[in-house]
Amino acid sequence: MMALEAAAAALPPLQALRRAACLPPGDFRMAMRRLAGAVCIVGTTDGQRPTGLTATAVTALSAEPARLLACINLKGSTFRSIADSRRMSVNLLALHHSDLATRFGGAGPGAGELFEPGRWDTLTTGAPILRDALVSFDCVVDEMMVAHSHAVMIGEIKSVQMHPGRHAPLLYADGRYTTLHPQGETTP
Ligand SMILES: Cc1cc2nc3c(=O)[nH]c(=O)nc-3n(C[C@H](O)[C@H](O)[C@H](O)COP(=O)(O)O)c2cc1C
Repeated sequence: MMALEAAAAALPPLQALRRAACLPPGDFRMAMRRLAGAVCIVGTTDGQRPTGLTATAVTALSAEPARLLACINLKGSTFRSIADSRRMSVNLLALHHSDLATRFGGAGPGAGELFEPGRWDTLTTGAPILRDALVSFDCVVDEMMVAHSHAVMIGEIKSVQMHPGRHAPLLYADGRYTTLHPQGETTP
């Protein structure tokens, strides 16, 4: 480590930086546990069957035009289905949805029966919309960029459904589900 003022005088050349090894996967995972993320279910459909997964790698991209992005692992069945149909929903979960997050994350009981009847609707594209999500975005995938193990899906937002109530959001941090706590209060 070097103080910022001292480092300015001895900046390493970019080529040398590029050649240097990057962070090993174990260290990457451990460090990224500190990045608290809002938990979503990213869904899609091929017209016959909905599919979806739990995701935290979701973010707003631009308001004009309305775009968001989601990073989806190339190995999963959801990636193939989104890449084929180009339809994608992003459902932002509330604290009481932690059971859904577990199941769509590939763990827990009932992983086979993901889309319980009566809990899901469609809006514009036919992608699955969770009836009581904090907010759901219904998108057409505008662009898809494959980068290493994941694809960055850029969704053109066609419609949105906002829950009228105010529920605590479901967050994932330090390897567990949690929520927001007013300043000064500690996490449970
Ligand atoms: C809290 C949490 C966050 C996750 N975030 C992502 C994500 O952003 N992108 C992704 O591709 N997978 C993510 N996953 C992993 C997928 O949810 C999981 O691998 C899923 O079973 C893949 O389903 P599929 O095979 O139908 O695609 C996350 C899992 C959990 C539990």
